[in-house]
Amino acid sequence: MQERVAARIRAGYVCITVPICIFNGHGEPQALLSSKRILLIVAGGIAAYKTLELIRRLRERGASVRCILTKGGAQFVTPLSLAALSGDRVYDDLFSLTDEAAMGHIELSRDADLLVVAPATADLMAKMAAGMADDLATTALLATDKPVLIAPAMNVRMWEHAATRANVETLASRGVLRVGPGAGDMACGEFGEGRMAEPAEILGAIESFFRGDVAAVSPSAGAQGKARPLAGRKALVTSGPTHEAIDPVRYIANRSSGKQGHAIARALAGLGAETVLVSGPTGLADPPGISVIHVESAREMLAACQKALPVDVAVCAAAVSDWRMAQEAGQKLKKNGGGPPALALTENPDILRTLGEAGNLRPGLLVGFAAETEKVVEHAKAKRKKKGADWILANDVSPATGTFGGDANVIHLVDDSGVEDWPRMSKEEVARRLAQRIAENISIKD
Ligand code: C5P
Repeated sequence: MQERVAARIRAGYVCITVPICIFNGHGEPQALLSSKRILLIVAGGIAAYKTLELIRRLRERGASVRCILTKGGAQFVTPLSLAALSGDRVYDDLFSLTDEAAMGHIELSRDADLLVVAPATADLMAKMAAGMADDLATTALLATDKPVLIAPAMNVRMWEHAATRANVETLASRGVLRVGPGAGDMACGEFGEGRMAEPAEILGAIESFFRGDVAAVSPSAGAQGKARPLAGRKALVTSGPTHEAIDPVRYIANRSSGKQGHAIARALAGLGAETVLVSGPTGLADPPGISVIHVESAREMLAACQKALPVDVAVCAAAVSDWRMAQEAGQKLKKNGGGPPALALTENPDILRTLGEAGNLRPGLLVGFAAETEKVVEHAKAKRKKKGADWILANDVSPATGTFGGDANVIHLVDDSGVEDWPRMSKEEVARRLAQRIAENISIKD
């Protein structure tokens, strides 16, 4: 049966019916993409499989999708799956007489409202920048007079290579729109920037384009081409230590630098979230574009967090002091010859737990940290339950790891499905990876 269908597609007859819903969850037609024609060029990268989901989502919203599959792309997805999902035949041959008679490459590239290249490989981007036209995909891209949106996907070293940087700039200067790439695990085992934007992000970029918000997908319009999957979302991050006054000049503190929390706030804002950073005393500069609320004590931190609600996501990265003075001394404590004073302590409010119990105002996604020196994952699992958090990022802070105050971190992410071990990476990378995971989680919930 499959072979018969494949043969019909090869012959140009497509009569496959797949159930396509053109209504959203509220039973309303999706007007924005309705009747929009997308020419989707699928090039050769492992991320090509994600385009299947993209096609499905585009068609759900009423867009029509026509696919060009490069030779490389065909190594990763079959024409049959693209045809089945797009409900159209798949174009892959520049010199096919039947295609040229029925629809030439010029017509193909112009009979669309938007060309989307996903995945846009380093090779295809180089060819686009150089103006090459040695197959149907590159020819269509050179012949088109329609806007082009690329979703790059490649290994992080290839993405960072000077040649690719130059090609990216050339394409941006010509008005080619871009979504992603994001940072994340790569099929090659490395971690970094170069991962193709998720289907939901590409869809978001396409919708931004048709809404007229070209800045969101325009590398030259200030967005640097970064995907902004958290645009329109609110994020709250706590960071740094707290200072609990003993008397007017002394306080209880800890060694937290605030580096991790600040990096997370930057990463979330970088993905477009409207971010509030509630920071204890640190030596760090306020990150630009973020609303920073400076606090000293745990109680001030809690009050600032509650004021920031409701939010879509809260990340509690602050090292909040567990205790404060039961009674803060009004005047500086003096040595009076009677031995050191007894410091009576009382417990501070648990901010993470309070947010977890905030009822209607509970953040949509609540993330905490667990700094441990032993049984790291075991303690983190217990903490996740006790505090009502969705995710706990556990890290080993025993002195030998150099985590506290250092620049690197080893994370074990505990969620309701288990534990994800991240390799040792910089706090910046941890922040980017977490922000990306948050964006994916939020888009899945939509
Ligand atoms: O209980 P522990 O301090 O190990 O829990 C760590 C997690 O709880 C971190 O996410 C931290 O920001 C948060 N926390 C909090 N308020 C406290 C204590 C911890 O939000 N008083």
